[in-house]
Amino acid sequence: MSSRTVADEELLIDLLPPDAELDAAGRLVVAGCPLRELSEEFGTPLYVVDEHSLRGQARRFDSALRERRPNSKVVFASKAFPCAAVLALMAEEGIGVDVAGGGELAIALAAGVPPAEIVLHGNAKTAAELRMAIDAGVGTVVVDNHDDIDRLETLVTGCQHVLVRVLPGVQPDTHAAISTGQVGSKFGLPPAQARSAIERLRGSDKLILDGVHVHIGSQILDTQPFVEAVETLAALGELDVYDLGGGLGVRYTYSEHPPSPEEWIEALTDAAARCLPAQARIMIEPGRSLVAGAGVSLYRVVTVKRGTPTFVAIDGGMADNMEVALYGQRFEGAIVDRLGPGEPVELVGRHCESGDRLISGLRLPDPRPGDVVVVAVTGAYCFTLANNYNGALRPPVVFCRDGDARLVVRRETYADLLRRDI
Ligand SMILES: Cc1ncc(COP(=O)(O)O)c(C=O)c1O
Repeated sequence: MSSRTVADEELLIDLLPPDAELDAAGRLVVAGCPLRELSEEFGTPLYVVDEHSLRGQARRFDSALRERRPNSKVVFASKAFPCAAVLALMAEEGIGVDVAGGGELAIALAAGVPPAEIVLHGNAKTAAELRMAIDAGVGTVVVDNHDDIDRLETLVTGCQHVLVRVLPGVQPDTHAAISTGQVGSKFGLPPAQARSAIERLRGSDKLILDGVHVHIGSQILDTQPFVEAVETLAALGELDVYDLGGGLGVRYTYSEHPPSPEEWIEALTDAAARCLPAQARIMIEPGRSLVAGAGVSLYRVVTVKRGTPTFVAIDGGMADNMEVALYGQRFEGAIVDRLGPGEPVELVGRHCESGDRLISGLRLPDPRPGDVVVVAVTGAYCFTLANNYNGALRPPVVFCRDGDARLVVRRETYADLLRRDI
């Protein structure tokens, strides 16, 4: 439960996409679209994306990186929002796309992302996925282990550019489930083994070793572990490309203050300038921090059970936002057209688990069935992790811009739930 000194609406607006506002009627408006109207037109639960805000964030990362390191590339970690419309927008903005496996690769190709701009990841890439990537002409494959090299040597007929994923042994302060750079992580090769993979690749006549990759985790609110990770790469010799991964944390709550994209990129490029070859190409792979803030989720209140605590149950929950159940992520929210002080309630979902609590201690003024609730900063990993628990229909995605709303992913139907049955 948070103690507030500023009006709730001012605090919440700060977490919504940058052009969000409260109109004269006291309604929250995102990208020129009143949120209640969106809920009426498209139903709930609903993922809403502010298109200008998404493009703005892509440009912000791109220009911050290029200004500090002209020979560089931003690649969007598609796992954060693997929706064709989002990937197409990234491609339009000149951002590359990283995919972790055949499914994300299929979405990126369908979205029209140029194959040369795609980076394939994965700690367990199958031969079929590698063949798919090679056939598509994927620009870079990130080698996670020696089996990847064995498979690529067999499958590649021409040549394939690769990076080696290094496990730097850096422990960021984040949830254990999304920490990937620590000793004992399943991702990448510790430096000694990375060195032997580098030697092996240098001897290959089909696999072209461009450089190394590192990714230490997600929702990291401090730049220091990123700097440490860059420092570990320096010991691997001089290479042409250093992909420094993603992981920058996002402001989900009133009390969090993550580094800005510029601060993060400055820390990375300063460390690169100190430790890595001056001419080397730097790549970064932001996922969460690129898309989270451009998205909000809308829900309708179904029941209000007053007591201690008061439960406000909505028509969504852990089927469309797994971040809370998986990592204990805190979110903030409000009723879209009745802001102001209120008593703390438990905003809970409709699923059959007590862990299906979306926001604990959320202050809502006199919540009632039929109210529409917005949850802020849901543009990352919510669409990704959506599921059909309790037969939930995965929500649609609406892109909003200058007062217009367009559906880019439709809502699932009950027929979709049976579509795969034989
Ligand atoms: C290899 C790789 N790159 C980039 C990312 C993006 O991380 P984030 O969404 O925290 O920026 C991930 C996420 O797990 C990843 O595994």
